[in-house]
Amino acid sequence: MVKIALVGTGWQGQGHLATLKELENVHLVGVCDLNEEMLQKATSKFGIKGFNNYVNMLEETKPEGVIICTPPEIRENLVREAAERGIHCFIEKPPARNIDSAKKVVSILEKTGVINSVGFMYRYSPAVEYTKQIIQGKRIALVRSAMLDGLALRPNWPRWFFDKERSGGPVFDQAIHIFDLCRYLLGEVDRVTGYQDNLVVPKADDFTVEDSLTLSMKYKNGILQNHLHSWSYPDVFTQIELYSDELNLTLDLVKGRVSGQVDGEVVFFESNEDPLYRLELEAFIKAISENNPKLILSSYKDSILSLSFAIKAMEALEN
Ligand SMILES: NC(=O)c1ccc[n+]([C@@H]2O[C@H](COP(=O)([O-])OP(=O)(O)OC[C@H]3O[C@@H](n4cnc5c(N)ncnc54)[C@H](O)[C@@H]3O)[C@@H](O)[C@H]2O)c1
Repeated sequence: MVKIALVGTGWQGQGHLATLKELENVHLVGVCDLNEEMLQKATSKFGIKGFNNYVNMLEETKPEGVIICTPPEIRENLVREAAERGIHCFIEKPPARNIDSAKKVVSILEKTGVINSVGFMYRYSPAVEYTKQIIQGKRIALVRSAMLDGLALRPNWPRWFFDKERSGGPVFDQAIHIFDLCRYLLGEVDRVTGYQDNLVVPKADDFTVEDSLTLSMKYKNGILQNHLHSWSYPDVFTQIELYSDELNLTLDLVKGRVSGQVDGEVVFFESNEDPLYRLELEAFIKAISENNPKLILSSYKDSILSLSFAIKAMEALEN
């Protein structure tokens, strides 16, 4: 049994608790939140001891791993408190609010040597793994991606997401998933440009983000990409399309499906995959129990490059 504690029992924390509760080799020893109501919801639903101070929780419950589901500005001190006690860290994306803070977290993690993982769950998708294999050695020239979601239309979604100062908006909070995955599949980005606007939900005192944007990217290896993003689309649509003289592929991340042609041959892949959150958490737990960091597909150090990509995109949009 691997002893696990969790900090931040909001939307993502509650989801991860439900998943962890299903894993046979996990013993949930404690949960922590500053919000009494959220904490109460988690302790009563999952029958775990609750704390309103994460240091007290780490001291008392002595977990082997901690799942960090707080907003991105609450990372550095929490990681330090855990890592210096030898507690392995699973950290939700985005890895930090800025590069300086992310670098401090990297140095804590390197000094302490704990296993660390950032919640870029798409890397664990079997459809992504399939795509990675079939594009190996193939030319990719053009990429068209889109992530359309309705966060801004959901009345109960946590309001800090719509405060640009806190969440960074759709690029920093969500398009970072696409940036991370494209880095994983295609390589490192060189230049980014784009436009953003409020096309459906207007700006207001409690809504300081844009709800729609388009980005154009050039990768260091020459690949050109266009990305569309929305928080005001009343459904969920997440796809990456790859094109060249050698292939055309559509990776549908909602359906876990890949379809298209490679060298004139039709290809198709679909998996009845476990939820991606389960796959990323299972990898973290297995990495702890086998003391094998290689099972982690998204280390904190690597995630900084995805953070830099997101910052580059935000700067391009603001300019
Ligand atoms: N990977 C994904 O698909 C995905 C999806 C949603 C959210 N997330 C990420 O998960 C993180 C949390 O998002 P959320 O939607 O759950 O937000 P949320 O607002 O619902 O939950 C965050 C919780 O953290 C608590 N918290 C804040 N500071 C704390 C502290 N010092 N100690 C203890 N608790 C504290 C808050 O009270 C709140 O309950 C964010 O980084 C977000 O980007 C990832």
